Amino acid sequence: MPAAKGPGEPTDQPEARLVWPGKATPREVLAEAEATQVRFRVAERFDAGDGEPNLLFWGDNVHVAAALLERWRGRIDLVYIDPPFGLQRTLRMGWGSHPSDPLAYDDRWPEGWAGYLQMLYPRLVLIRELLSERGSLYVHMGPQLAPYVRVVLDELFGPGGFRNEIVWRRDAAGKGGKRRSLQWPRNTESILFYTRRPRGYHFEQPSRPLSPRQAAAYRLREPDGRRFRAVQLGNYTETSIRRLEAEGRIYVSPSGRRYKKYYLDEATATVDGLWTDLPGFGTRTAAREHLGYPGQKPEALLERILLASSRPGDWVADLFCGAGTTLAVAERLGRRWIGCDLAPLAVQTCRRRLAPAARRPFEIHWEEAPVRCTVHEGLPPVGVEAAWDGPAVRVRLVPPGDVSGGGTGAGAGEQGWAPEIDGWSLDVGAGSAFRHRWVSFRPYRPSDPPLALEIRSAASGAGERLVVQVADRDGRVFRFHGAPPGRDGGRAGSWEPLHPVAAG
Ligand SMILES: C[S@@+](CC[C@H](N)C(=O)[O-])C[C@H]1O[C@@H](n2cnc3c(N)ncnc32)[C@H](O)[C@@H]1O
Repeated sequence: MPAAKGPGEPTDQPEARLVWPGKATPREVLAEAEATQVRFRVAERFDAGDGEPNLLFWGDNVHVAAALLERWRGRIDLVYIDPPFGLQRTLRMGWGSHPSDPLAYDDRWPEGWAGYLQMLYPRLVLIRELLSERGSLYVHMGPQLAPYVRVVLDELFGPGGFRNEIVWRRDAAGKGGKRRSLQWPRNTESILFYTRRPRGYHFEQPSRPLSPRQAAAYRLREPDGRRFRAVQLGNYTETSIRRLEAEGRIYVSPSGRRYKKYYLDEATATVDGLWTDLPGFGTRTAAREHLGYPGQKPEALLERILLASSRPGDWVADLFCGAGTTLAVAERLGRRWIGCDLAPLAVQTCRRRLAPAARRPFEIHWEEAPVRCTVHEGLPPVGVEAAWDGPAVRVRLVPPGDVSGGGTGAGAGEQGWAPEIDGWSLDVGAGSAFRHRWVSFRPYRPSDPPLALEIRSAASGAGERLVVQVADRDGRVFRFHGAPPGRDGGRAGSWEPLHPVAAG
């Protein structure tokens, strides 16, 4: 007799399953998640609009997913994840991947696919628990790992949970080196689509404009030039045909046969599981939305997924959120969102992307235990000076070690320190979370506003606390705390790296 199913057990037994050393059962994964709760704290807040904030977690997603269980079990309507592809290398920020570009994340798996699956499996078990009864999961995978992950997902969601394998053609084939690679171009990726339940899930079939070839079939014209095609009537009743006639939707051929008219200006094609119309960034590196984050996906791809599998107001989560593409699209489409990433540069990219886009407040929660990441400990690349300037307080970034003497007035690039800074923000007051009240980011493109190195901000009086948060180009975050010095000037205080950062 089959054993009774407990929480976290798949709904149906799959006929085949994948095994690797150390693989746990879903029940064991959940028991461990409940036993090892890692704490998070609200460390940053961006104010915009009203209402309950959206959430970005800086930490390991296995801890985040475990922590979310308490409040979010069965409440998330759509999860999209785009984990590392198992490329066996580290990935850097930037458009050309130069060795000097900052490290974003590590995609090396010394134990090969077994090690990769050992990482992914518990996360998939926890994500399944978070999905609502009508919820959907999209898992974005490279071509090498997709077949393995597919088998694992079948095991977790049962055979009835599989909906589609979407094949996304990222780039047009045949450019440069790909022509000489002695194999077919690897220009496709898979998006595995599962639903928590075989029925009752939300899905809005997307459509797209007709291709020129499909449009060419609309050869007939009304007297006013409107194009249509004529299709055999099939099994319409006489009553229906009379109604269509009254609506002018019946075409009578020269031989007297009746057909139904389909107009070109009303026609759309159903989007199927082969997506060739959404180019990636391989050939579009100058695209405005490309932020240089490795593995960043185009917004159009996420837009298609979110429009099909979520509704306005639904909760959408991406626990490998990278540059925050899912979160930015969710914000734009009026969905609520939860994001997570381990990499300091991912979180920093999300700060700069979401700060100007947010229509609601959002919070960044930091994992309290030290996290594994790829940056080194070290000194902040900058100092801060604050002084009264009439009724306002003047805060400026100065070269490191130059906080006492009133600054040098050095500008970006002059002393090689400002280029190390990705962005900085100011908070006035002493809330438990840092509020990004005033924000400036390094420009990505010549058209972006320059990084402001000085601000004048109203502070209500002497003794009010200033907090400055600076992120460098490795995504390391430093905070400066202190009351503004007296109106006659004075030392500004000292820097401390607040987020625990360990060498990777
Ligand atoms: C391919 S990128 C995601 C890109 C994203 N879809 C976008 O459009 O920018 C994969 C991300 O997974 C993150 N990641 C890898 N392991 C993680 C973990 N255990 N917890 C949280 N994030 C993780 C990496 O830091 C990286 O940012």
